[in-house]
Amino acid sequence: MDFDILTTFPEMIEAVAGLSILGRARQRGLIRVEAVNLRDFTHDRHRSTDDTPFGGGPGMVMKPEPVFDAVESLLSRKPGKVRIILLTPQGRRFDQGMAEQLACESHLIMICGRYEGIDERIREHLVTDEISIGDYVLTGGELAALAVVDAVARLLPGVLGDESSVHSESFSSGLLEYPQYTRPAEYRGYQVPEVLLSGNHEEIRKWRRLQSLERTLNKRPDLLESAPLTEEDRRIIKRIKEQ
Ligand code: ADE
Repeated sequence: MDFDILTTFPEMIEAVAGLSILGRARQRGLIRVEAVNLRDFTHDRHRSTDDTPFGGGPGMVMKPEPVFDAVESLLSRKPGKVRIILLTPQGRRFDQGMAEQLACESHLIMICGRYEGIDERIREHLVTDEISIGDYVLTGGELAALAVVDAVARLLPGVLGDESSVHSESFSSGLLEYPQYTRPAEYRGYQVPEVLLSGNHEEIRKWRRLQSLERTLNKRPDLLESAPLTEEDRRIIKRIKEQ
């Protein structure tokens, strides 16, 4: 899958995309992540990517030409279906479902806004999707783009070593993940729950499901409204609530 990230700070993208699981996926050719420097698509002496707003007011606005030119240059190199995503606090809130949908695409172009805003014609005539990673304002779209790349890339086949971990963890089941422990079985007097040492797989499965349900009920009860629950799950939740 190809990710092209349009930015005035390509170093920010490189600093993250070269490391850890993303870095390894990139080396193995499972993903291509490229930071496209918008300054390479400017034509003035100062290589400006922003200008003052028409109508006055504070701050600077991202100019349309470098963004349109950069996108068109990418499309001429790789024609075909592409989503052109603007990272902005005005966008649709990013979640696991959106990550799963985006993981079905073959090419994403991401535009990182900087400064006080971007020329509205970019939004109207170039962008296909607007994504926000939460209700807070970052200094630019780069960290948001990286969050989206990371969440999407880890869903692609082969990117995580253990495919089953994609399915059991928080959110993909619609519930929060159960607690995990590793050796030692006792640390500073704190014990690992007995059932996990029992070797009884059915009891362990039931304990983990109970923990997931209990955690979700306590920390994120909103998730239970859309989680796929069995009759047994519903009985357990009822029991927890009655305690
Ligand atoms: N750019 C600035 N803040 C942002 C946010 N919360 N999500 C996506 N892009 C942004």
